[in-house]
Amino acid sequence: MTAFVSSSAFADAIPFAVIAGEESGHVHAREALLDAAMGPGRTRKSSEQIRAGRLPADGLAFSALRPDGSLVGTVRLWNVAAGTKDGAGVPALLLGPLAVSPESQGTGLGSLMMRCAIAEAARLGHGAIILVGDPEYYARFGFSAAKTAGLAMPGPFEPRRLLALELIEGTLDGVAGVVAPTGCFMLEASSQMGLAA
Ligand SMILES: CC(C)(COP(=O)(O)OP(=O)(O)OC[C@H]1O[C@@H](n2cnc3c(N)ncnc32)[C@H](O)[C@@H]1OP(=O)(O)O)[C@@H](O)C(=O)NCCC(=O)NCCS
Repeated sequence: MTAFVSSSAFADAIPFAVIAGEESGHVHAREALLDAAMGPGRTRKSSEQIRAGRLPADGLAFSALRPDGSLVGTVRLWNVAAGTKDGAGVPALLLGPLAVSPESQGTGLGSLMMRCAIAEAARLGHGAIILVGDPEYYARFGFSAAKTAGLAMPGPFEPRRLLALELIEGTLDGVAGVVAPTGCFMLEASSQMGLAA
């Protein structure tokens, strides 16, 4: 297990949790946490069409864990093409879902997970992160709709909530089209068990 917080600039930011790479043993707790934080409608989101049946991007699925090892937060990023430019798909990441256990919301943990995820995506050389979410929350991490006017999700979405952060300047200049999944498919057995879904 890789603990990012204890070895990073974010060390001791949240005394009750560390952020680690997601493991298969976290999957059931993650699904329960997402149900508790986001409600049953979460699986009908257009982002889910991009995630369904795929694995998260390599090294970019995170769990926030309490000292006893129980799950208190989750965030994952997914390989996508953020539309096309000059006839070719533009590699990017889709972030989500991000969620913190209801009893621990408002403690700064969501922000810590966002900063860890962004830092790790940048370290791995990714050019941009897109997400569908509230601009009032995600603006603090640098996300905006400035570069997403030409993009669409593969289902209903509010344009003001389709946001992006460039990790390499200019990655999203001139992109247009529907955000499409490009990540690896889950094996059927893993899919049925919900592993890494
Ligand atoms: C959204 C979420 C991940 C944020 O994590 P968190 O640990 O509670 O947030 P933090 O403690 O880092 O930040 C709290 C701040 O974010 C604000 N905030 C939280 N959710 C917000 C939202 N949807 N829109 C605007 N602001 C929001 C809080 O008002 C608070 O503001 P303040 O710093 O001015 O007091 C968490 O609240 C959650 O799991 N919510 C339910 C799941 C969800 O909606 N996820 C997707 C978000 S679009």
